[in-house]
Amino acid sequence: MQLTSEQLAEFDQEGWVFLPDVFSQDEIDVLMGEVPKIFAMRRDEVWREKDGEAVRTAFAAHTYNEAFRRLGAHPRLLDPVMQLVDGPVYMHQFKINGKAAFDGDVWQWHQDYGTWARDDLMPEPRAMNIALFLEEVTEFNGPLMFIPRSHKAGVIEAGHDTLTTSYPLWTLDKQTVTRLAEEGGMVAPRGKPGSLLLFHSNLVHASPGNISPWDRTIVYLSLCHVDNHIRQFKRDEWIAHRDFAPIEPLPDDCLIELARENATAAE
Ligand code: SIN
Ligand code: MN
Repeated sequence: MQLTSEQLAEFDQEGWVFLPDVFSQDEIDVLMGEVPKIFAMRRDEVWREKDGEAVRTAFAAHTYNEAFRRLGAHPRLLDPVMQLVDGPVYMHQFKINGKAAFDGDVWQWHQDYGTWARDDLMPEPRAMNIALFLEEVTEFNGPLMFIPRSHKAGVIEAGHDTLTTSYPLWTLDKQTVTRLAEEGGMVAPRGKPGSLLLFHSNLVHASPGNISPWDRTIVYLSLCHVDNHIRQFKRDEWIAHRDFAPIEPLPDDCLIELARENATAAE
């Protein structure tokens, strides 16, 4: 799946692109069927909110779950990113963010590349996020908020916030967010399960807490050009991966094929 020239121009100018209806409900069902099992696991990769119960993020599920392993090599996710970074990619980070109904906490204002540069010594912002909505994202359940065009600002000064949520993050101060929002405004892309959101690793973003009764599960692949791999291994391997081999895309029907295999095994 390749981006059109209009989408490439939009990405360059705005720092993000929304792609509706990329995965079918059958494919989403294969993935969502695994999420409760993953979220029930008590393992280091499954990070909970401050309450110690609601899952904030499950890292690296592509290394311990077959459906998410396939998603991590899915051509509909890899192709547009390889097109944008102009070459083969490896998985820098993989996470399923829960943002649970009533209990999902905020993600403060930040840039992802700010963390990858400071913590992991990734040389350049030649990496990006591609997010797949596994559940509907609405104005109520804690949508991602972007400051369009903020990716043009480069890496912005940030402070290491270890207190606000259960997860430490390099966050921007209020004055900086105010100035950037005066220039670029703000958007909160919403959509059905199966939609994709592609955003530049320097795009400033955040999400509010989810006080609605609806979960908001999104899976994020952070893919990096293989030449641009991280140089420092300070964080756990399952947060900042160290396998820099190019990912070989699987066949386009790999998730539906898994559903078929599971149905046959159950007979
Ligand atoms: C992130 O910025 O990494 C996650 C934000 C979210 O899932 O709301
Ligand atoms: Mn982020």
